[in-house]
Amino acid sequence: MSIIEIDPKTCTKCGICAAECPRRIITMPEGSLPQAAASEEASCNACGHCVAVCPKGSLSHRDSPLETSPKIDKGLKVTPEQVEQLLKGRRSARVFRDRPVSREIITRLIEAARYAPTGHNLQEVEWLVIDNKKELDRIEELGIEWLQWVIKNLPQVATASNMEEKLERQKLKHDAFLRGAPVLIVAHANKNSLASLAGIDSANALSYLELAANSLGLGTCWAGYVYIMANTFPPVQKALALPEDHAAYGCMMLGYNRFRYYRIPCRKVPRITWR
Ligand SMILES: Cc1cc2nc3c(=O)[nH]c(=O)nc-3n(C[C@H](O)[C@H](O)[C@H](O)COP(=O)(O)O)c2cc1C
Repeated sequence: MSIIEIDPKTCTKCGICAAECPRRIITMPEGSLPQAAASEEASCNACGHCVAVCPKGSLSHRDSPLETSPKIDKGLKVTPEQVEQLLKGRRSARVFRDRPVSREIITRLIEAARYAPTGHNLQEVEWLVIDNKKELDRIEELGIEWLQWVIKNLPQVATASNMEEKLERQKLKHDAFLRGAPVLIVAHANKNSLASLAGIDSANALSYLELAANSLGLGTCWAGYVYIMANTFPPVQKALALPEDHAAYGCMMLGYNRFRYYRIPCRKVPRITWR
C-alpha cells in the first residue's frame, strides 16, 4: 500500500507535492495522479510537506493524515515587526516569582518546541521536566560539590570563571545554577545515534520553547552550568537519571518573571562576510 492517498475528485494534478517532496519519492507520471511507490517507503522521512503544500487538501500521508494536519490560520499571521520584537525583546530571566508553572503550560511549550527543525526529521529530542523543589534544590546542592571539584582539579578554569567567589555565594544563597526557577527542562537524546544531529536539534527545540514561553508571559534562561554538570559530573548525572544511552543536550530554567523588560538592550554589530 502507498504511503500517500490522493483524493481524485479534488486533485488538480498540479504537481506541487512532487516538486516539494525533499526525497523525490512522489512522482507524476504523464497525466496521472501523484504516486509514491511502496518500495520508496523506507526513503520517506515523514516530513509531511506533501500534505502541507497541497492547495486543495487532496493528499493525505500515512504519518501525517489530513485530519490531523490542521490548516494554517491566515488570521494568526504575525507581522515582521511582531516577530522582531519577540526575538529582540526576549531576555534571559534570572529573578523568578514564587509561582509554579502548570504542567498544562509546560506541555503547551513542548508541543510548540517539537515543531523545530530536526536533522533528517528524526525528532529524537526527549524531555525531562523537573518541577519538584526538592529535586531542584538537590541540583543546587550538587553544584557546590561540582564547584569544589573544579577548583581542586581544574584550578585554571576555576580562576578564569571566578569559581571561588561563586562557591562562597552558593554556600549562602543556593541559587547560582537555577536562580530559584520553579522548573528545569532538559532536552536529551540518544548520544549514539550517528545519523542524528541531536545537539543542534535540542538547541533548536529549546529556542522554540523559550520564544513560546516568552509569548505566554513566562521567563526562561539557559542553564549552561547544569548542562556542563549533566555531561561531566556523575552525581548530577545520577540525580537527572536520564536513560543510560542518552546525553543532555540543553538545559533551561522556566518560571514567571518577577520583573518585566521595557527596552531592547544593545548587541554587537553583526560581523558578516559577504561573498
Ligand atoms: C548555551 C547558554 C548557556 C547559558 N547558561 C547560563 C547560565 O548557566 N546561567 C545564566 O544565568 N545565564 C546563562 N545563559 C544566558 C546568557 O548569559 C544570556 O543569554 C546572555 O547574557 C544574553 O542575555 P539575553 O539572553 O537576555 O539576551 C546562557 C545562555 C546560553 C545560550
